[in-house]
Amino acid sequence: MSGAPLTYEKMNGRSIRINRVPATITAVLLTIVLVYLLNFHQEERPALYGMLRSDNKVNLRKMLIAAVQAAQRGGFEVRDVAHTRELKERSKGKTDEGANDPFTDADARSHCVMKQGLKRFFPRVQIFSEEDKEHCKDAHIFDLDPTVLHETAEVPDVSVSARDVTVWVDPLDATQEFTEELYEYVTTMVCVAVAGRPVIGVIHSPFSGQTAWAWQGNSMSEYLKGLRVQPHSDTDHPVITVSRSHTASAKEVARSAFGDNVSLLTAAGAGYKVLQVVANNATAYLHTSKIKKWDICAGDAILQALGGTMTTLSGEAINYGPNDSPVNTEGLLATLEKHDEYIDKLSKHRSEKTAKSRRR
Ligand SMILES: *[C@@H]1O[C@H](CO)[C@@H](O)[C@H](O)[C@H]1NC(C)=O
Ligand SMILES: *[C@@H]1O[C@H](CO)[C@@H](O)[C@H](O)[C@H]1NC(C)=O
Repeated sequence: MSGAPLTYEKMNGRSIRINRVPATITAVLLTIVLVYLLNFHQEERPALYGMLRSDNKVNLRKMLIAAVQAAQRGGFEVRDVAHTRELKERSKGKTDEGANDPFTDADARSHCVMKQGLKRFFPRVQIFSEEDKEHCKDAHIFDLDPTVLHETAEVPDVSVSARDVTVWVDPLDATQEFTEELYEYVTTMVCVAVAGRPVIGVIHSPFSGQTAWAWQGNSMSEYLKGLRVQPHSDTDHPVITVSRSHTASAKEVARSAFGDNVSLLTAAGAGYKVLQVVANNATAYLHTSKIKKWDICAGDAILQALGGTMTTLSGEAINYGPNDSPVNTEGLLATLEKHDEYIDKLSKHRSEKTAKSRRR
């Protein structure tokens, strides 16, 4: 028997020959496959990955892919509800301006898809959604699909601590206009802030199917690039975009700060208005009352990626950390150029107004 097989085992009365060399090769191959699955294919196995690896890092490339997908998936729900025409509209109460604050099935369904989809990939990240009060019945999931980004997008693997990441989700911006079938204003938005600064912004327009996304310092969507290079009109002449639903105070501020000849572009949705600034349809976006951070964070990230600026009316940067208030109460100015000039004019107007009210 010597010189023959290395091992014999009795099984069911039959002899099975196990040769050590192939067995070792198989074991090595299996180990390689296992290590590969655990380390390089986390996007397909987030649950397993989460269980087996307890580090608290977030890969921003994956975050970007998930954010774009969440915005687009939410957009599908919004369109789906619009097509059924069963919005099941109800009111969330009144806005700060005293207008009705509507809520529809589209807000709810988009919220569940976006929030649950993101939460599954990033269980340790704080995610704030406008509709967090909504109870989601079904588990909505999607797998990471890197093809939502264009092939030439520069998306390096950048790892940050999960503790430093805050995600802001707006499942349906411009709900009022949605109920009025003014669909061009409607967007779904995701913003990723790192240490309170907006780093990734996604503004998706469900009814045109376009997605504007930017990752500061890395890349942006082709659609956004195309908007940016659209021919400028005369930028010396201010064109201010303000909200169509509560324009009284913003219009008054714009006129007194920039002169009676200022052009006003009334529009709806903070996401839409930022895109008007990007496309040079407006030279600035002005908001004079309270505004929620899920309305503005994505636009802030996108503007910054394009070299633009979004601040409060006194020129302060807005913080999007988890411990900051979800409401910005200091007003909003967003521009691509000449931000300081606009802020100067606005603050002159504000100090004149204060002086006047003191004199009275
Ligand atoms: C506003 O426009 C009118 C007519 O075009 C012009 O006569 C006037 O000088 C302008 N005012 C300012 C402050 O630019
Ligand atoms: C800018 O304005 C033009 C003309 O009104 C319009 O066709 C275009 O869609 C606007 N851009 C965006 C991003 O909405």
